[in-house]
Amino acid sequence: MTTATATTPAPRVLLVGATSRTGLFAVPHLLKKGWHIIASVRSEARAAEVKKLAEATAAGTLETYVLDLTSLKTPADARAVLDATKPTYVVWPAGANEDADAETIHAIDFVAAQAFMRATVADTNVTKYMHLSYLQNRRRHAPWWNAEDGKISDYFNTEVIGIFHKARVVSDGLFAALVAQRRKTDPAFQGILFRPSVLVDTEPTGKFRIVRAAATGSVTRADTADVLVRLLARDDVHGYVDLENGEAGADEEIQKAVAEGFDAIEGEFDSTEALLAEYGLN
Ligand SMILES: NC(=O)c1ccc[n+]([C@@H]2O[C@H](COP(=O)([O-])OP(=O)(O)OC[C@H]3O[C@@H](n4cnc5c(N)ncnc54)[C@H](OP(=O)(O)O)[C@@H]3O)[C@@H](O)[C@H]2O)c1
Repeated sequence: MTTATATTPAPRVLLVGATSRTGLFAVPHLLKKGWHIIASVRSEARAAEVKKLAEATAAGTLETYVLDLTSLKTPADARAVLDATKPTYVVWPAGANEDADAETIHAIDFVAAQAFMRATVADTNVTKYMHLSYLQNRRRHAPWWNAEDGKISDYFNTEVIGIFHKARVVSDGLFAALVAQRRKTDPAFQGILFRPSVLVDTEPTGKFRIVRAAATGSVTRADTADVLVRLLARDDVHGYVDLENGEAGADEEIQKAVAEGFDAIEGEFDSTEALLAEYGLN
């Protein structure tokens, strides 16, 4: 008699904003894991670019899904995307483009992002959700920052990307609140707010700081994509993960953060209960 052995299906990874510069670096790493990638792209024209990356990678499988993020106005709109794509992992490296006007930034980084967060965290088929934000996006200076870190972060958030900051600081808080609420009954759920510092396109260094990162650094998009996939592949990472290029290898620095139980959310909110109350989730 032969006994059938159940094989675990490969994770289905919905990559929202697959044509982001970071997303394009991430696609080959995601495929190399042998995962199935659903690459959400704004148009068919951009889909070809992503499909080419899959042709060059032997492992994994990829499909594309056309989605204009400005069409996501409610959690029900986002729910329809999840119903159509059936992901187990979701990664959001999307965001309004750097030259977007205030209305578009609000539509994507506030309305669509929050609709998507609400639908995704409520989806019990999704076991990991990684949303990208940026390291300096805080309501309060991190307790480990020095005066220069505080000054540069205030400057970014008011003088350089003020409209993004206003949208994202509310969205990031909602993400933290929704994840905290879900983890009350599902502690294995991984909600990761991945927060690279200023993104640059120089050569990757393969060296990082995650634990108590400064606000004055930067990190390459290629390095960010590499760390993104390493984080996603682990079962023990959740919370706010800051990233800048530094001195340690990726796995060494991730392991250090896990071993210390370090979460860059530290110092951001008075308490989890206060956070939940702010978003009406308690
Ligand atoms: N810039 C920084 O220094 C920095 C620092 C830390 C974190 N971040 C965040 O990290 C993430 C990755 O950054 P990045 O620089 O790699 O991103 P990016 O190249 O600016 O890509 C943004 C993505 O969002 C998509 N998008 C914009 N509007 C859309 C719409 N209406 N419908 C569908 N898709 C739309 C773009 O699609 P198209 O390709 O079709 O335009 C693109 O795929 C973003 O969330 C970013 O905000 C940025």
